[in-house]
Amino acid sequence: MFGRKKKETPAIDPLQKEMIENAQRRIKEKRGLFTHFVVFLVGAVGLIIISQVLMSVDPIVILGIEWWIWVLFVWLLFLIYHAFKVFITNRLLGPEWEKRQYERLVEKQQERISKLEEKVAQQHPLPDVKIAIPEKQNRTITMIAAAGANNELGKDGDLVWHLPDDFKRFKSLTTGHHIIMGRKTFESFPKPLPNRTHIILTRDPNYKTDGGIVVHNMEAALAVASGDEEPFIIGGGEIYKLGLEVADRIELTRVHGSFEVDTYFPEFDEKQWKLISSESHPADDRHQYAFDFETWERVE
Ligand SMILES: NC(=O)c1ccc[n+]([C@@H]2O[C@H](COP(=O)([O-])OP(=O)(O)OC[C@H]3O[C@@H](n4cnc5c(N)ncnc54)[C@H](OP(=O)(O)O)[C@@H]3O)[C@@H](O)[C@H]2O)c1
Repeated sequence: MFGRKKKETPAIDPLQKEMIENAQRRIKEKRGLFTHFVVFLVGAVGLIIISQVLMSVDPIVILGIEWWIWVLFVWLLFLIYHAFKVFITNRLLGPEWEKRQYERLVEKQQERISKLEEKVAQQHPLPDVKIAIPEKQNRTITMIAAAGANNELGKDGDLVWHLPDDFKRFKSLTTGHHIIMGRKTFESFPKPLPNRTHIILTRDPNYKTDGGIVVHNMEAALAVASGDEEPFIIGGGEIYKLGLEVADRIELTRVHGSFEVDTYFPEFDEKQWKLISSESHPADDRHQYAFDFETWERVE
């Protein structure tokens, strides 16, 4: 009960233990070599004495050399081999051993680093900084299109109707803004539309034009138009598909008619979109087809 508390022995680090064992082995090897050397010296003296005193009268000669010199020579070779093993081969402890040591050192360093990190975190806690997640930009991305009753858009790179009042509306809505379009729609214009910044989507990295800014994906197109509070996606079919993912509003001119076309406006889920307004325009002497100006907005 009142006995002295047993002193705790600190645990020996396995790395240090292995190094100590290794050093002990090296000492033993060197000691063994030294003993070998001493025995060799004594043996050599002994052999010389035996040869000179006992066999001086009729010495045994092999290939012109006395036997004891042969014996000493072979022994010396053994001694040199022994020394080579101790000082050269065993000194280099082999790649496996070195690799193990290296891994252990890395482990130790990592342990130290994480301990230091913990310590720093405790002593100097970081202020509770909130990372600012960019809010949705205060702008409306609008798709603008004219589509027939079955979503027809155009054929052979052109429209299949001529509706001047729809052009007029398109012009008044898009003027002063960025207009994002596919390369094919861009090339369908005789010349770039005035007072609008054209952003042309293409997968061709070498595509060049003086008529607008060339980009290779919708994110880049929207980034180029980031200063615009209402950029417009103006088609054609391929680009409207991309646009459906990002648009907030669709200005759709629904043309009352069926047409033979090769390009269509994509189907959109009417549950995700709400019809905000619709304005009818009758057919007349300037317009072969009646149509409605529909404004759809994405339901949040
Ligand atoms: N009714 C309307 O309101 C309306 C409006 C616009 C156009 N249109 C009509 O639509 C037709 C053209 O439409 P379209 O679908 O054939 O062609 P488009 O959408 O105008 O352009 C297609 C091109 O856009 C590029 N593109 C497509 N997806 C891309 C992506 N993910 N990343 C980078 N680039 C991409 C490719 O260009 P590269 O081949 O160079 O890689 C592709 O060939 C024409 O008939 C036109 O008159 C109608």
